[in-house]
Amino acid sequence: MTNVKDYENVMIFDHPLIQHKISLMRDKHTTTKEFRELVSEVAMLMGYEVTRDLPLCEVEVETPVAMAKTKVLAGKKLALVPILRAGLGMVDGMLSLVPMAKVGHIGLFRDPASLKPVEYYCKLPDDIAERDVVLLDPMLATGGSAAAAVDFLKQRGIRSIKFMCLIAAPQGVEHLHNQHPEIPIYCAALDEKLNDHAYIVPGLGDAGDRLFGTK
Ligand code: PRP
Ligand code: URA
Repeated sequence: MTNVKDYENVMIFDHPLIQHKISLMRDKHTTTKEFRELVSEVAMLMGYEVTRDLPLCEVEVETPVAMAKTKVLAGKKLALVPILRAGLGMVDGMLSLVPMAKVGHIGLFRDPASLKPVEYYCKLPDDIAERDVVLLDPMLATGGSAAAAVDFLKQRGIRSIKFMCLIAAPQGVEHLHNQHPEIPIYCAALDEKLNDHAYIVPGLGDAGDRLFGTK
């Protein structure tokens, strides 16, 4: 994992397995089934690092040989919050690492004309303000959707938020960082630019359509 120049809390994953899987996802010939599996696998691999700072506590267990002082997760409360639709694809991979996490949902779509995020759904666990939140969305393009989702979470009193995406554009990183500089941003790849329709170049196309086979 490397830091993006100029941004202390923007991390890019340079692990070979992640880079390999991202390349397969970019390929327009990759099927919906394969794409869905890859999104989940990359989310799990990234989740390993994103959960690196989970606190531990010491316990004693009896092994077949002796008593052992050893460590387990301290039970810090986590919530995963996918941004609908495409963020849903990252949930299972993360849950395979942290099965006790609760899952909230924020529904946003990007208006094709204004490119501004429009909220259409929000359902979060009742105790969300006490939880550390990992916000999930495969694409960080203009950054409008991610910044709006963080706004919603902050309005509900949540202070501990990490943002995890697969592919980011420099504009999206800058926008999210400027709006919410304290939020760590984890990406599997930082691409070159946005095109005239604010799609990431080279990117992977429309993540929601590729995940759900809607086009
Ligand atoms: C995609 C993606 C992000 C957003 C990124 O969702 O999943 O949520 O675009 O773009 P931004 O950084 O410019 O806001 P989309 O609006 O296509 O909705 P969908 O997931 O329902 O397809
Ligand atoms: N949303 C996507 O799904 N893909 C992009 O490239 C940009 C926004």
